[in-house]
Amino acid sequence: MRTISSIDFDYLRKLIRSHSGVALEAGKEYLAELHLATLAQQIGFDSISELVEHLKNLPFGSLHVQVIELLLNYETSFFRDTYPFEILKDLVLPEIIKQQKSDEIINIWSAACSTGQEPYSIAMLIKENFPILDDYKLKIIASDLSSQVLARASEGIYNQLEISRGLPKRLQKKYFYSDGNQWRIKQKIREMIDFRQLNLIEYYSNLPKMDIIFLRNILIYFDIPNKKKILSQVKNILKTNGYLFLGSGETTLNLDQEFKRVQFDKGICYRL
Ligand SMILES: C[S@@+](CC[C@H](N)C(=O)[O-])C[C@H]1O[C@@H](n2cnc3c(N)ncnc32)[C@H](O)[C@@H]1O
Repeated sequence: MRTISSIDFDYLRKLIRSHSGVALEAGKEYLAELHLATLAQQIGFDSISELVEHLKNLPFGSLHVQVIELLLNYETSFFRDTYPFEILKDLVLPEIIKQQKSDEIINIWSAACSTGQEPYSIAMLIKENFPILDDYKLKIIASDLSSQVLARASEGIYNQLEISRGLPKRLQKKYFYSDGNQWRIKQKIREMIDFRQLNLIEYYSNLPKMDIIFLRNILIYFDIPNKKKILSQVKNILKTNGYLFLGSGETTLNLDQEFKRVQFDKGICYRL
């Protein structure tokens, strides 16, 4: 039986959309029921409905942010989908390194990095395969809207389930050390990444031009105007010779004509 009314769910959908751009679909009431019941209880309300009423009467603040962050999807894993990382290793990075030989600067952005598995996968891949980049000015920026997942990403501590998802045992042994029943990333990988809070639907001007952008498994959560808005900003940040990686279910098709699909054996990337 539903414990959340359609009016309350509508309020929550609007709240999430206006702050993050994420369009929570109709029929996802169970998510609110699952994630907000405990919070409501913790702050002394008898129901989600009371929590929602409270939110409506407060100016936008930390409780609203807490509620929004409880309803976002943070699904991620190390080397997610495998093929983007193979393309990165075998084709994209070798080409970018050649292009950047004169100034030796390479910038990579993991936008919407969740708990950090994506940027750490990129950093480990570079440490393993591109010793030449030790002499380059390499910047890996990893950003997310949620300060909670960013804090976790920045700590680089993972439980057994998280560490077993996508991370080869050899890399686990080499780049993590065990900390009780958890695994902590080694400092030499941690320090390769600059974690920042960034809302993709807002204006961001303080990023350097990027050679490689991972914008994966995030566009699917936005409506068409927000997808277009994000791609248009990404376009300004991506270097003319740079590469954009999207999630396997995502595309720039019918959203932005200036991105061209690049088909590799193992998968697709986008370029300007
Ligand atoms: C499903 S995860 C994807 C993680 C990773 N890119 C991957 O492919 O495994 C989506 C992430 O997008 C973040 N997110 C949602 N709305 C955002 C926004 N407006 N700006 C930046 N990040 C956002 C969420 O906090 C979440 O960490």
